[in-house]
Amino acid sequence: MENLGIIMLNIYQHKKVFITGHTGFKGSWLTAFFDHLGVKTQGYSLAPETIPNHYDLLNKNDAGSFANILDKEKLNAAVSAAQPAIIFHLAAQALVRPSYIDPVNTYETNVMGTLNVLEAARKCKSVKAVVLITTDKVYENREWQKPYAETDRLGGYDMYSSSKACCEILINSYRNSFFNIAAYGQSHEVLIASVRAGNVIGGGDWSVDRLLPDIAIAAAQNKKVQIRNPLSVRPWQHVLDCLYGYLLVGARLLNGENNFAESWNFSPYSSEAKNVQEVASIAKMSWSDIDISFGQAPDNFHEAGLLILDNSKAVHKLGWNPVWNTTKAIEKTVEWYKNFYQDNKVLTGSNIAEYLKLAQS
Ligand SMILES: NC(=O)c1ccc[n+]([C@@H]2O[C@H](COP(=O)([O-])OP(=O)(O)OC[C@H]3O[C@@H](n4cnc5c(N)ncnc54)[C@H](O)[C@@H]3O)[C@@H](O)[C@H]2O)c1
Repeated sequence: MENLGIIMLNIYQHKKVFITGHTGFKGSWLTAFFDHLGVKTQGYSLAPETIPNHYDLLNKNDAGSFANILDKEKLNAAVSAAQPAIIFHLAAQALVRPSYIDPVNTYETNVMGTLNVLEAARKCKSVKAVVLITTDKVYENREWQKPYAETDRLGGYDMYSSSKACCEILINSYRNSFFNIAAYGQSHEVLIASVRAGNVIGGGDWSVDRLLPDIAIAAAQNKKVQIRNPLSVRPWQHVLDCLYGYLLVGARLLNGENNFAESWNFSPYSSEAKNVQEVASIAKMSWSDIDISFGQAPDNFHEAGLLILDNSKAVHKLGWNPVWNTTKAIEKTVEWYKNFYQDNKVLTGSNIAEYLKLAQS
């Protein structure tokens, strides 16, 4: 028998979906996920920045426009032309280390970009739900063993994390001021939620300074890679587990369930948390060409040492469960890159099919 989560995904059939950040790592996987479900999407992002990139590999060139999230007129026009029922907002300056180099761009893109998306949603009457992607890094990090729950204090040491914490405050303010849960169905018809995922891994990510892409690119070139912060602990999770969570939240919002218009953590169980060195060792077991040394980054930018999320709200209230544990997620990621570099194969479609089969059982 199909589980409730999979049944909930049927709600997307014949709905129009708008995705910002569709050319990025997670946005291109989300587009492919919807494609697999037979749901059409419209994207809005800057053009892909790397060669290769997952978006071009998927040949999704018909799925959207290239424009800046800060261009309000273009964004409003794109949303209005698409007439979506739901918006997934992923466009962002998504990296910690570049946020130290260009804090203004990070804040503009992340905070003003989110504001522009919320305003576009307010103006377009077809929009019934908005899922806004922030991050696990929105919490005030106290280097605690205790996993952070949705009710924990927001913070953000670096510019990326604090910009995303600001987004959370902004989203909450929109939920109070314009998309109030108590007034849903009376003065407005829009439900909004923020989603906070852990360190997301999977094939097709070529962003700078990310652990598994750095390892895979070096292995493909038969080079040794130097990895920073080997003892840093993160909630590593496969991109499909994370996106499945986003889709379930979106489905509940589209279904008019206003008690789901909240913030949501998505991560592996806290017992799964692994440090960088452990992740690298598991990766090496899947690809013998991987050759790693550990060191410190030359710039000494502060990055959190210990970050674990509490996923119990998503598990108990949403019925979401990680399908692939962290070890499996690392193996699937390495397998994706190995196939790409050695055989020119893109495993995205088969990963999605395999994932959904397991999620159904
Ligand atoms: N990858 C992770 O581990 C992770 C973890 C938690 C949260 N997130 C969040 O998930 C979202 C997607 O992350 P990702 O890893 O796919 O990032 P990414 O860097 O691969 O993609 C970012 C996307 O945003 C778009 N973008 C950036 N600036 C823009 C602008 N000014 N105007 C229009 N589009 C713009 C890019 O074109 C791209 O499509 C982000 O909001 C990120 O903060 C990522």
